[in-house]
Amino acid sequence: MGQPSGDIEPVAQQRPTARRLLASSAFRYTLLYTLLFALSVAGVGVYVYAATLGVVASQTDDTIMTEIAGLEERYRRQGLPGLVAVVQDRIARVTGRRNLYLVTDAGFRPLAGNLERWPESAQGEPGWVEFLIQDAEATEAEPLVARARTFELVGGFRLLVGRDTTERSEVRTLITEAALGALVLTVLLGVAGGALVTRRLLNRIESMNRGAAAILAGDLSRRMPVSGADDEFDRLAAELNAMLDQIERLVAGMRQVTDNVAHDMRGPLSRLRSRVEVTLMGEPDVAAYRTVLKQTINEADQLLSTFNALLDIAQAESGALRQGFATVDVSRVVADVCELYEPLSEDAGLTFHTEIADGLALPGHAQLLFQALANLLDNAIKYTPAGGLVRLVARLTDGEIQIVVADSGPGIPAADRDRVLDRFVRLEASRSTPGSGLGLSLVKAVAELHHGSLVLEDNEPGLRVRVILPAAATAASPEAT
Ligand SMILES: Nc1ncnc2c1ncn2[C@@H]1O[C@H](COP(=O)(O)OP(=O)(O)O)[C@@H](O)[C@H]1O
Ligand SMILES: [Mg+2]
Repeated sequence: MGQPSGDIEPVAQQRPTARRLLASSAFRYTLLYTLLFALSVAGVGVYVYAATLGVVASQTDDTIMTEIAGLEERYRRQGLPGLVAVVQDRIARVTGRRNLYLVTDAGFRPLAGNLERWPESAQGEPGWVEFLIQDAEATEAEPLVARARTFELVGGFRLLVGRDTTERSEVRTLITEAALGALVLTVLLGVAGGALVTRRLLNRIESMNRGAAAILAGDLSRRMPVSGADDEFDRLAAELNAMLDQIERLVAGMRQVTDNVAHDMRGPLSRLRSRVEVTLMGEPDVAAYRTVLKQTINEADQLLSTFNALLDIAQAESGALRQGFATVDVSRVVADVCELYEPLSEDAGLTFHTEIADGLALPGHAQLLFQALANLLDNAIKYTPAGGLVRLVARLTDGEIQIVVADSGPGIPAADRDRVLDRFVRLEASRSTPGSGLGLSLVKAVAELHHGSLVLEDNEPGLRVRVILPAAATAASPEAT
């Protein structure tokens, strides 16, 4: 990893890596898991021991106890000679020193048995003892391990019965060593594996952090790295990238709006200013002043309404208004707009047709919906020559509310139908009519605010604008409840 050309970077990165590893929760979880696993390994060791050697040990103890009981019984019935005879008989029957016997007097002096002397550790109270036997002839050999029970007979004599447990304690040592080895191996593997896995995770997170830092530093076009593994990191990166796309779009949109505003408002404002200036430079004349002031008020009103339209569009586009959505009686809103525009269309010498279905409803913003429809009717009336036809249809189609505003005017050429939805775009043919070019922008923003869409079509002749909005679930099936 450390490239030879790298200057201080590798050194600078090394130490934080170790610290980051320890600080990472993934690594801590691995350690915890390793600990639990080590505990279970230890548990298995204890169980294996208890289930094998433990059973053997307790069986041996049982036989020793039975043997002592038998010998004591013999002593009680036949006295010391009887006991010594049995002991000698038993020793003669077993080869080697697998079974141990010793009878002594009260001073621990041996009377019979296959042990040279009474073990020193067994000179206290009678009970269980474990001791080593060093063979007198072969002092080089490993001493034997023995476990025995001592017993005080009536009359002060002592009896010891035991077994050679060398083999057993060797196996026990083996098991203990194996279990300890497994334990150490478990911990080592666990920690190493944890470090490995954690480092991989940290690397992925680190590369995301670097991406985020670069974006934060102003490189808005940068995206989170996607490894192609389609794991949760990739899904997170994809979500973040989608979010960044959206942010980039919004920022670009905002920049465009600001540019537009600066560009399109400067003209009217400087015209207004120079007219006032010119008037002031001329002869004082109250009548002229009045005219110019009236004009100024009109233009200021227009500027204000442009600003308001811009604000409405911005609000609709932000989507924040969705929080305040309430059920809107769309049929009512459409009827209200038509009521307002019907006289205007008649004044313009147009025939006005409406066809409004009852019970149209959706969760939405009534005032903005009203404003959007008003903009559409305003356009239709404004751009359709006298003698023409304006038609509004509102109905439910496949669970969607469709509001269609059609006219018989000049229409919009197919090539311009996308463009006219942008802010301040007005077609060349419309330069002579008043307007700011914001009407359709608002309609689009309002449609999208309601999760709907806007389609411009050819009405042959004229323009047909179709606003498609998802209806409220209850309105689509009123009998459902
Ligand atoms: N019904 C229509 N018929 C013909 N052209 C239209 C119609 N509606 C809109 N347009 C064209 O689209 C442009 C943008 O419309 P709009 O955003 O409402 O702005 P404005 O009406 O203020 O000019 C208009 O300037 C006009 O050129
Ligand atoms: Mg308009």
